[in-house]
Amino acid sequence: MSLLIKNGIIIDPCAENRAVKDILVENGKIAGVSEHLTAPEAEVLDATDKLVTPGLVDMHVHLREPGFEAKETVQTGTLAALKGGFTSVACMPNTYPVADNASVIRYILGRAQEAGNAKVYPVGAITKNSEGSELAPMAELKEAGAVAFSDDGKPVNDAAVMRRAMEYAKMLDAVIISHCEESTLAGGVMHEGTISTMLGLKGIPAAAEEVMVARDVILARLTGCRLHIAHVSTAGSVQIIREAKSRGIKVTAETTPHHFTLTHDYVHGYDTATKVNPPLRAPEDVEAILAGLADGTIDVIATDHAPHTEEEKNVEYDLAPFGLVGLETAVGLVWSQLVLPGFLTAEQAVAKLSLNPARILGVPAGSLEVGAPADITIIEPRQEWEVNPESFASKGKNTPFAGRKLTGKPVMTLVNGTRF
Ligand code: DOR
Ligand code: ZN
Repeated sequence: MSLLIKNGIIIDPCAENRAVKDILVENGKIAGVSEHLTAPEAEVLDATDKLVTPGLVDMHVHLREPGFEAKETVQTGTLAALKGGFTSVACMPNTYPVADNASVIRYILGRAQEAGNAKVYPVGAITKNSEGSELAPMAELKEAGAVAFSDDGKPVNDAAVMRRAMEYAKMLDAVIISHCEESTLAGGVMHEGTISTMLGLKGIPAAAEEVMVARDVILARLTGCRLHIAHVSTAGSVQIIREAKSRGIKVTAETTPHHFTLTHDYVHGYDTATKVNPPLRAPEDVEAILAGLADGTIDVIATDHAPHTEEEKNVEYDLAPFGLVGLETAVGLVWSQLVLPGFLTAEQAVAKLSLNPARILGVPAGSLEVGAPADITIIEPRQEWEVNPESFASKGKNTPFAGRKLTGKPVMTLVNGTRF
């Protein structure tokens, strides 16, 4: 079976220039990219006026399986990924049991294979049960298929434990993804500022994140380990990362669509879909994040897709779990908030959604080169649509974007040449 994608606007972060070209897909691989390709046997797909990009990669999702199947499963989460334009996802280890041993990693990979949707790359835990005290068997996790290490959802409080984890990760040539939160400063439910005071909710100061970003950058310098900062939410974090990069420290960073779009203002009304960790921050933080995306300080856009059930979220703000779903709104938010207003070019946005996360994780994705797996996303950049959680493939409907009008929609994804 071969497929000829005709006349699409190719946005390939590896290529020099944007151009209208055809792509030939044969046997699950990209067999040709050029102008006026012909392939008499191939089925033709007209992509005129649409953007054709490498399959998008979300390096921060919670698939919830094993253990929390009421929130999401590998099947529903990877379907949500495909609907959102993502052909690969890295899933975080805060499952039950925690992905701190090879059998959980193998279980997730097995479920992903059965589902046959987006490709799944599990992240292994840094510490046993993500409790922050004893290292998980990192080499064994890597051997089983873990592509990175993180205790996401929780910080690694003990600096000596993090140092040791970084030393092992360096030996394994794997990246540490750090959920930066200094526990002794955290413990609130939203950003600490004027609005938390007005609403009478306990705040989490920006410093809770920044102290840990600074510590981990210093430990990355000490160990030479590759460090990736998850869900950057504050101006101070952006500044620390910018400076660390300028000193040659091996640090990369991601932010999320909700952190570049929303401020703590959205917590008015106590919608628990706005309760997320790290919290929605102040307008000056959002501005700094936009600047960090534009100047390359922030390498990656990842969703931190964190589904919860309606029962769990439909409680008072203090009691609700942190997290919101992001897979099916990410491309619309990137286009509406970043590309159309001119903060990023389409190429920069696509790099942050594909090539950059693929390189950080070391997975085969992010390119439209001949010979690469035919993981392709087709985006209709002018399509206007309204977010309707009821139409999500994800079990999680916890989005603060319900009813929002967006421009830019993924209309087709191909994984190894199979169309979804
Ligand atoms: O809001 C969040 N939800 N932040 C995290 O770090 C973890 C995640 C979850 O697992 O629900
Ligand atoms: Zn996290």
